[in-house]
Amino acid sequence: MDYVGLDGAVYGVTDLDRAAQFFADWGLRKVRAPKGAVAFETVNGSQITLRRHDDPTLPPAIEPGSTVRQVFWGLGSKKQLAAVEQALAKDGPVHKDKDGTLHTRDPMGLAVGIRIARRRPLKALATPINAPGKITRVDTRSTIYERAIPQTLGHIVFTAPDVDAMERFYTKRLGFWVSDRYKGRGVFMRCAREGNHHNLFFIKSADGKGHLNHVAFMVRDIHEVFGGGLHITRQGWQTEIGPGRHPVSSAYFWYVKSPAGGACEYYADEDHVTPKWKVRALETKPENFAEWALPDGIHRSRGDIKERGASSS
Ligand SMILES: [Fe+2]
Repeated sequence: MDYVGLDGAVYGVTDLDRAAQFFADWGLRKVRAPKGAVAFETVNGSQITLRRHDDPTLPPAIEPGSTVRQVFWGLGSKKQLAAVEQALAKDGPVHKDKDGTLHTRDPMGLAVGIRIARRRPLKALATPINAPGKITRVDTRSTIYERAIPQTLGHIVFTAPDVDAMERFYTKRLGFWVSDRYKGRGVFMRCAREGNHHNLFFIKSADGKGHLNHVAFMVRDIHEVFGGGLHITRQGWQTEIGPGRHPVSSAYFWYVKSPAGGACEYYADEDHVTPKWKVRALETKPENFAEWALPDGIHRSRGDIKERGASSS
């Protein structure tokens, strides 16, 4: 199966105003939403919807408090949607909306929607990089981002009670592909045979229950990871970890604690994989999570960082 990607996530939150302020500061565009909801889009139209946690229209939560209540995956054609419907029908009747969206629950009880993708194709916008022997930026300054404008939803991560059950459901029923594993502990999956290293990652939970870990937003390049992280810090939000770099996908990251539950991640320059990619079984150890990372963010160069030579030290 080849999904276009992670098409949307619906949060149930305890403080709607604070969560909405966070996603506005995060760089998303507010769009029209049904009554009781606040909705945002990335540049390509993938969506974040916020509702109050006790909103009766929301599916049941996998955990108390603010968290993701529903995840939408976007397909490119009605034919593929029909194929997923057929696979899901092996487990019983499939609930279908008037617009054709399929609704199911994964093995930990998270509501999953499968629909024709609403996302739009992205234009290539990354800043060209100069390397020895390969000059791609001439007479042009590199970009300094005042803030991030996330291009698309990229991946979502949960801790799960039974990682093997999650892998079976997403590969056998929804048609996802395994990209890598943490031995006996986690599985990185992608939703198309060729594409981003992972769109979905489950890691075994310590308490035997499901929890949201983070939702990740792809930005244009490493400079925007830094610019976005600096901006969100200036707005008063707290870094969870970052900036840093993930060896498993090669991506640069910056995680920020989210009032909507879990964390949100800016990331850039992820590996792009095909069926030729060799699935690895990695040890769960800190150096496989991050080649390097700052524990607590960085702060913008202002008056507090003296120019070299201007200081007496
Ligand atoms: Fe991530």
